[in-house]
Amino acid sequence: SLPKSVRLVEVGPRDGLQNEKQPISVADKVRLVDDLSAAGLGYVEVGSFVSPKWVPQMAGSAEVFAAIQRQPGVTYAALTPNLKGFEAALQAQVEEVAVFAAASEAFSQKNINCSIAESLARFVPLMEAAKAAKVRVRGYVSCVLGCPYDGEIDPAQVASVARELYAMGCYEVSLGDTIGTGTPGKTRHLINVVGRDIPRHLLAGHFHDTYGQALANIYASLQEGIQVFDSSVAGLGGCPYAKGATGNVATEDVLYMLQGLGIDTGIDMDKLIAAGQRICEVLGKANGSRVARARLSQ
Ligand code: HMG
Ligand code: MG
Repeated sequence: SLPKSVRLVEVGPRDGLQNEKQPISVADKVRLVDDLSAAGLGYVEVGSFVSPKWVPQMAGSAEVFAAIQRQPGVTYAALTPNLKGFEAALQAQVEEVAVFAAASEAFSQKNINCSIAESLARFVPLMEAAKAAKVRVRGYVSCVLGCPYDGEIDPAQVASVARELYAMGCYEVSLGDTIGTGTPGKTRHLINVVGRDIPRHLLAGHFHDTYGQALANIYASLQEGIQVFDSSVAGLGGCPYAKGATGNVATEDVLYMLQGLGIDTGIDMDKLIAAGQRICEVLGKANGSRVARARLSQ
């Protein structure tokens, strides 16, 4: 049976916008975050505290955090790759952070310039500082269903990285299909393997829609008992270190499917569509959500 409620983690302002080459003003980023919380999203990944040389678009994250209108009950989170990033996040009064490791050695090198083991070692002091500051840490594993450089990824390798993140104190581990090559059968198999080490209610699915499989993979994950999914309004995004990867699955499209299944999320579809359309107009881009396109053309 499917879960009765699902929590959506909105990653559009971070995973979505990090890949945009054009400058986006702090005001436009702030507006996006505020529109998303107003639409009922309970968790918004606002930005990253990473090297501005690596991901220039996220350089203004502290300013964005300073200007958003924080709503009670909404978690505003940021990505932090190391202690330096965590300290900058604390300074910006970020209430929750996420660390990210890869299931593939080649991707780890391209994305964060170190091996998987080195990246995990860097997280240890970060985790200690987070514990002292009472900041919760979410963990990501990327390339769980394929790597742009290494190809196929062994689910056992994903499980091993996920287990380490969980053991060092991540309260939830998000499994990222960074390049969107996963299919539902592989997704179910992966959850079965990782689910041996980590309870399923502490796993999340993070699907990119590059190959058009994201909703099918989410449905397969729901059947396996996963109740948390990352998505991006208007399907914004991609990954700067995964060429050709399109955005995350669109939040509107996930919401439409969940509503159809009678699964509760607390999100307002009309407000969500308006939030997505607004940022697409700022970017001068077509809306990547099928649901938004259908509704807006009616
Ligand atoms: P590095 O060059 O190996 O590190 O980068 P370094 O320690 O030698 O530092 C180099 C410079 O960066 C130094 O400055 C540091 O101070 C600075 P310089 O002396 O040259 O002026 N620096 C920082 N600045 C700001 N914030 C920091 C920070 N750390 C060092 N936190 C590093 C290593 C990890 C920093 C770099 O590779 C990096 O920032 N990478 C970020 C990559 C990234 O954000 N990728 C996208 C997110 S992951 C993703 O999208 C996947 C996900 O969505 C899941 C999925 O889809 O599967 C999560
Ligand atoms: Mg991603």
